[in-house]
Amino acid sequence: ISALRLSVCVLLLLCAAENSNGGKILVWYTEASHWINMKPVLETLVDRGHQVTVLVPSASMFMNSSEPSRFQYQPFDVDVSVKDIEKVFDDLLHFSIYEMDFMNPIQIYMTFIDLTKNNMNISLKFLDGVVKSETIMKKLKDGNYDVLFADPIYPGYDLTAEILGIPLVLSLRFSLAHYWERMCGQLPAPPSFVPAAMSKLTDKMDFSERLFNVLFYALQDVVINQFILKDVNKYYSEVKGTPVTHCKMLGKADIWLLRTYWDFDFPRPLLPNFKFVGGIHCRPAKPLPEELEKFVQSSGDAGIVVFSLGSMVKNVSTEKANLIASALAHFKIYKY
Ligand SMILES: *[C@@H]1O[C@H](CO)[C@@H](O)[C@H](O)[C@H]1NC(C)=O
Ligand SMILES: *[C@@H]1O[C@H](CO)[C@@H](O)[C@H](O)[C@H]1NC(C)=O
Ligand SMILES: *[C@@H]1O[C@H](CO)[C@@H](O)[C@H](O)[C@H]1NC(C)=O
Repeated sequence: ISALRLSVCVLLLLCAAENSNGGKILVWYTEASHWINMKPVLETLVDRGHQVTVLVPSASMFMNSSEPSRFQYQPFDVDVSVKDIEKVFDDLLHFSIYEMDFMNPIQIYMTFIDLTKNNMNISLKFLDGVVKSETIMKKLKDGNYDVLFADPIYPGYDLTAEILGIPLVLSLRFSLAHYWERMCGQLPAPPSFVPAAMSKLTDKMDFSERLFNVLFYALQDVVINQFILKDVNKYYSEVKGTPVTHCKMLGKADIWLLRTYWDFDFPRPLLPNFKFVGGIHCRPAKPLPEELEKFVQSSGDAGIVVFSLGSMVKNVSTEKANLIASALAHFKIYKY
């Protein structure tokens, strides 16, 4: 009997140890390609025995809390319609496809700031549905999560992680002029050889380009801090009841997973809590549909060019498609 008891005890202990390997992960809501990118990562986490719960707003273009999945959903209500969200993205797309060509750089920049501020406004309305909802905050507290995992495009994850008192892990491609990484995450970016993201510069800069890089960093820092994040800082301070900034809270993130690789971006200094995870969402290739396979094989030595406009562009006119195709036709493809 005692041997039996002992083995039951050992068995129970083993089960407990097995269970304690899996963590409880709370995932921040996101949208479009950011969500497409996150899903396979969450599936892998489930495969490894973790329990994954995703916050999903009642209005979203890409997230759907009724869709069957292996992770759980924590839906929350927002005072925003899918139309409002679509409008923000449509305005941004329309601006970048049709309007930008007819503007000078200052007009482009001013319009960009306006559109971004508009987007921030909607983001804060989303956040109301989480931090200003007692029901949701209680559920999150009772959930006893071990970590909050977020793609930082929608603010509030840092505030929520702090309120819940849990570590924060970020998954990020890059931010404009590396603002979040530099100013909040303290990632060094010497302007003499680290080109600001979206400055169109490379790491090989002459004197005037370096000067432009310095000014570009400085300009983004002022604009992001003074205009784009102003409402967010105000919001966070109201919730916390003490003056805080988004950047300061974001700086407390424990790990930054960068969706790129050392051989894909320009060389730069890194910190130990910044990890490259480029391609984390990739899955083994599947065979092409028969018709497409035939088309690819028919290209012979010339090969084909795969061209993608991302998750937001639903349709392109035949005229534009032909324009893009004729430009790509000029490329010579070299086989290594
Ligand atoms: C959400 O998913 C459910 C189940 O797959 C589906 O019936 C519903 O139409 C989807 N809703 C939206 C808005 O896509
Ligand atoms: C953002 O929201 C505030 C208050 O809800 C409003 O006063 C402001 O005009 C809005 N800004 C934009 C750019 O929509
Ligand atoms: C794409 O579809 C939208 C909505 O259906 C339409 O308004 C727009 O004109 C279309 N664009 C092109 C380039 O066909």
